[in-house]
Amino acid sequence: MIGIDSIAFYTSHYYLDVDTLAEARCIDKAKFHNGLNIDKISFPSPGTDIVTLAANAAEKALKGKDRSAIDMLLFATESGIDQSKSAGIYVHALLGLQESCRVVELKQACYAATIGIQMALDMIRVNPQKKVLVIASDVAKYELEGPGEPTQGCGAVAMVLSSKPSLLVFDQHFGAYTQDVMDFWRPNYSEVPYVDGKYSMQIYLEGLERTWERYQQRSKRTFSDHINFCYHVPFPSLVEKAHRTLAAMNQQKITASELTKLLAPTIAYNRMNGNCYTASLYLSLISLLENANQDLAGQRIGLYSYGSGCAAEFFSAEVVPGYRHVIDDNFHKDLFRKRQALTFDEYLAFYHYQLPDDGSPHDVPYYATGRFRLSHYKDHKRYYTDEVRSC
Ligand code: CAA
Repeated sequence: MIGIDSIAFYTSHYYLDVDTLAEARCIDKAKFHNGLNIDKISFPSPGTDIVTLAANAAEKALKGKDRSAIDMLLFATESGIDQSKSAGIYVHALLGLQESCRVVELKQACYAATIGIQMALDMIRVNPQKKVLVIASDVAKYELEGPGEPTQGCGAVAMVLSSKPSLLVFDQHFGAYTQDVMDFWRPNYSEVPYVDGKYSMQIYLEGLERTWERYQQRSKRTFSDHINFCYHVPFPSLVEKAHRTLAAMNQQKITASELTKLLAPTIAYNRMNGNCYTASLYLSLISLLENANQDLAGQRIGLYSYGSGCAAEFFSAEVVPGYRHVIDDNFHKDLFRKRQALTFDEYLAFYHYQLPDDGSPHDVPYYATGRFRLSHYKDHKRYYTDEVRSC
């Protein structure tokens, strides 16, 4: 029995309403709300980056836990802040984790947190007393006025994995799929990705079919052995296409209203956040656990992870009885509710904000970032502050 003992999400304190974007871009609002199924985009202010998002999420996931028990921190991201140093090292310091805790950054587009989980499961299988902190943290930033702009977002999910999980137990069977494709990529010189949007959707769905076939062959499980499904969520309407694809592969008929009802809890948070790449699937999982109308205890959830380029995986997990006492939906609901809306000009100012690239000293303007904040930059080094410890 290895799985998730605690899980938490964190995002920016600021968001752009897609209505504001639609007006500025002269696009029908219905395309965003109904066509892409997005309502709000979390957008990072100066002072928020993948490190602060991750540290804020992990601080919550570790609340009440013995942090000296964390033996490894796996940091998954595709919006890295340094080519050499892992963003996880900054987080390790901010969280006060023990010196013997190993830290590494993992990259394969939106898939990396999933391999992080699989690596953690292998490590805990051999050493059941060990605990691993897996963090997925990303800023999804696209070209202004491009088709990806309404699918931007940011956020981090932190998960503590152990052999005595109180939330979810992972099954050992999985189906993997890897192909060398150019559907979405970001060369080192570019701040935003190059995207072949329609092709990326096609490969995402192809990966789902291949990974499901392999998972099913190995696990011998059927479609109906899974009461719920969570998919990687680049934008929520793709999840509907994914579920229709999987249902059709398994000769299951599902009406439009059944589909909407089934998927609503799994995309509720993603609709309010936009894409957060590596964290998107796990945000969907939190969304399901906290918004499902029925008790999920003992139920199996199918999970589909997709990272462009591409690597994909289908796997599953069973919800542990008593999970409702562990989740803290008020934390996440408050996080979304207390966010501040940006005007279009404020959004553009955040979008264009850059740290100096010549190493000159720079104080980052103050915005609400949660407990942890990127405060200044000097000699090409980032400096973070902990609002609690510095008081
Ligand atoms: N009212 C209601 N619906 C409308 C509408 C209107 N006025 N106008 C358009 N729509 C619908 C369209 O019919 C379409 O729905 P269907 O696909 O069901 O037909 C939907 O809104 C989107 O419209 P378009 O196809 O015209 O949208 P687009 O071409 O402008 O952009 C996109 C779509 C190409 C996916 C773009 O958002 C994009 O490039 N996104 C980034 C890439 C991405 O997310 N790819 C996903 C797979 S890759 C991955 O998963 C990794 C990752 O995280 C990036």
